[in-house]
Amino acid sequence: MKTDQVLLRGRILSFNAEPQGPEDHAAYRYIEDGAILISSGMIRATGAFDQLSRQAPSVPVADHRPHLLMPGFIDTHIHYPQVQVIASWGAQLLDWLNDYTFPEETRFADPAHAEAMAEWLMAQLCAHGTTTAVAYASVHETSAEAFFTAAARRNMRMIGGKVMMDRNAPEALRDTPQTGYDASKRLIARWHGTGRAGYAITPRFAITSSPEQLEMAGALTAEHPECHVQTHLSENRDEIAYTLSLYPEAPDYLGVYERYGLLGPKTLLGHSIHLEPREIDLLAETGARPVFCPTSNLFLGSGLFDEAGLRARGICNAVATDVGAGTSYSMLQTLNEAYKVLQLQGQKLHPLNAFHWITRGNAVALGLEDRIGTLEPGTEADIVVLDSSATEPMALRMQRAETLSEELFVLQMLGDDRAVAETYVAGLPQKHAVTRAPRPALQPA
Ligand code: GUN
Ligand code: ZN
Repeated sequence: MKTDQVLLRGRILSFNAEPQGPEDHAAYRYIEDGAILISSGMIRATGAFDQLSRQAPSVPVADHRPHLLMPGFIDTHIHYPQVQVIASWGAQLLDWLNDYTFPEETRFADPAHAEAMAEWLMAQLCAHGTTTAVAYASVHETSAEAFFTAAARRNMRMIGGKVMMDRNAPEALRDTPQTGYDASKRLIARWHGTGRAGYAITPRFAITSSPEQLEMAGALTAEHPECHVQTHLSENRDEIAYTLSLYPEAPDYLGVYERYGLLGPKTLLGHSIHLEPREIDLLAETGARPVFCPTSNLFLGSGLFDEAGLRARGICNAVATDVGAGTSYSMLQTLNEAYKVLQLQGQKLHPLNAFHWITRGNAVALGLEDRIGTLEPGTEADIVVLDSSATEPMALRMQRAETLSEELFVLQMLGDDRAVAETYVAGLPQKHAVTRAPRPALQPA
């Protein structure tokens, strides 16, 4: 018997396609007494427990009944230097950046601070059932280094990049077109494809990058088509007006990124809320992915993401927390707020689509569905164990639930890290490896 083998037992749910409606049973596989056979961090088989336990009789069983085993959640947009400005009062985007976020990000010049925060983030992601995230580091090369190092320690599949920003930010947070390019290039060489790491070329947004810097970011993108690209688009009306004043020749906001060759299927565009018809055409044409960040969009009062409208154009939307403007690390709470944002527009987010979205859907948006986001044999063993009766209100509600969809909706609306009983990363349990952040004394008022 190989010592790194384990058979997880529980109720199994995994999607193989986007559900076309509540009755689309072909889009997923649900096994009441199921099992996942894992060895060397990979899923070897998924099926009925009695069948797999007969096939692998000597493999130890981790019995998670009656919980639900699903692929680990994927968060496609998070800012790791913002973990200590989450829940900062009173501002919309541009003031929030200037008053809270930029000053906070200057602290990541200190590698020891960056290392402590990155380590804390990985633990929190595991506590919330998130096994892959796409992160913005600060402008400092060492902050991205700390992020990848912390991810590698837990063998997590993580994508990230140092932000490139050379204007409209404090001096301490500015690189230059050349230093931003050089540092990104070194990080790509060190980390892209090292273990489970992937690099995202990360010009923060048009406001904080000069045309020269976006040009260099475009050159880097052309030199490294294997990397993702991430930035922000049309989150807030004042941001859009400011962008257009800085790039007066651009036909619209997305036209800035188009001009510098930053758009393609590996491009992730945070927010993408207030779009012009030409921009929507361009998203459809280039395959760039809008990223819906519901808790952030409500928190900053940014606006309502038109999920159905973009999807109807064949655009592949991702969904994400956007911590620290986002207010929860939980992809379950993210779905809760996503449901409400769509309700306000007369759109529906069925729980089958919701759970597809934070697993296989986001994997498809990242082009990684052959590695993560399903429970298919040959994919990586990142798995979340969900307890739909984790809290008293959930348990009471579950007494009246009769279908899988009802159970999923309870998790979607009432679930958070308490509903995550365990999180496996490359086959190893990580949930209870959480370390708590020390809390300093508070000032009065
Ligand atoms: N636009 C540019 N930077 C940021 C950021 O850090 N958070 C959000 N929500 N929007 C941004
Ligand atoms: Zn963001």
